[in-house]
Amino acid sequence: MELALGERLLSKIQEGPTPAAKPFKPIDAKIYVDEANHREEVALIASNPVAALAASELAEAGDFVTLELAGTPLIVTRDQDGQVRAMHNVCAHRGSTVEPRNSGSARIFSCGFHGWSYNLDGSLRAVSAASLYSSEPCTSGLRQLPCEQRHGIIWVTPNQASTISVTDWLGPELDEMFSELGLAEMTHYATEEFNLNCNWKLLTDGFLEIYHLKYLHRNSIAPFFPAHLTLSDRYGRHFANWVPKNRLVTALTERPRDQWPVLDHVTGAFVLVPGTVVQWQAGHVELFSLRPHPTDPTRSTARLTMLVPTTRLTETDLWDRNWLRVCQTIPEEDFAAAVGVAHNINCGAVNQLRIGANEHQIVEHLAALQTQP
Ligand code: FES
Ligand SMILES: [Fe+2]
Repeated sequence: MELALGERLLSKIQEGPTPAAKPFKPIDAKIYVDEANHREEVALIASNPVAALAASELAEAGDFVTLELAGTPLIVTRDQDGQVRAMHNVCAHRGSTVEPRNSGSARIFSCGFHGWSYNLDGSLRAVSAASLYSSEPCTSGLRQLPCEQRHGIIWVTPNQASTISVTDWLGPELDEMFSELGLAEMTHYATEEFNLNCNWKLLTDGFLEIYHLKYLHRNSIAPFFPAHLTLSDRYGRHFANWVPKNRLVTALTERPRDQWPVLDHVTGAFVLVPGTVVQWQAGHVELFSLRPHPTDPTRSTARLTMLVPTTRLTETDLWDRNWLRVCQTIPEEDFAAAVGVAHNINCGAVNQLRIGANEHQIVEHLAALQTQP
């Protein structure tokens, strides 16, 4: 894969940016504010795998994180057998929130309202004052959701009725690519969540075109990349954009072909439909979980996680620099631009966006959202 990618990137660099073969395409700005459309997108996200967190965030049995996905409050934990579990953070008795903390470590989960307790696998452990509560035993545990650990990420399908197979959802090519990139051998380094006043698709759009790199990122990362140069790929329903760094050509000429360090000098943004972006960043990974507000199309949450190779976890100066750079670039530039556009759409000043031929994946992404099962 690495060699083939290197060859494709070298010919792309020689060839230069692709002139437009099609006119720009106008799209209706309503798709970023329409409530009925939003309900369908939230339902779509809820019935597909969502990147809940990095698997290494739950290193030990009993480690847990609570979060809300597509409006569903969840506890994600690792049970006594090492298996990851996602369950409603909602007591089977009368619906109170069971675990109020954002994260931590637990031996059992215990509801503060009337003291019912649950095992790490969600099964009911004990009803408090059981002899007073019922003449028959009660066995209702926490409601389980489909959940799978794959490629170093814990994926949850928030809609209980759906089943989960991350491999099927990714498709064989992407599944193999993520294995080759060694995602499962990466460890969580840092996480931050951003609550943003914009539709979630405006965040995704930033990963689907390279047009803005030279302009929006002129004071941050643009100097490291040639302008307007990307390899745009599709993997079934998903998207990828490979962008070479300026140093790639020199790095390849310094080594024999079978030792080309292509992946050390390239960025690859994988937009997984719907709502997840895995960004290969020349040796480490940035994971973006782009989460729409459950009811309001003009709000969303982006959870950004940086994963680094487990064998190089101690190179903290390097990772701190990278974390600072990503936090200064994506939230402060990309997300800020998206929020600005959203404001102009929300106030009615924009009713059409003119999507260029060099931004075609944005239109394809919208189409992909309409046609997903
Ligand atoms: S609601 Fe949880 S124990 Fe009553
Ligand atoms: Fe960007």
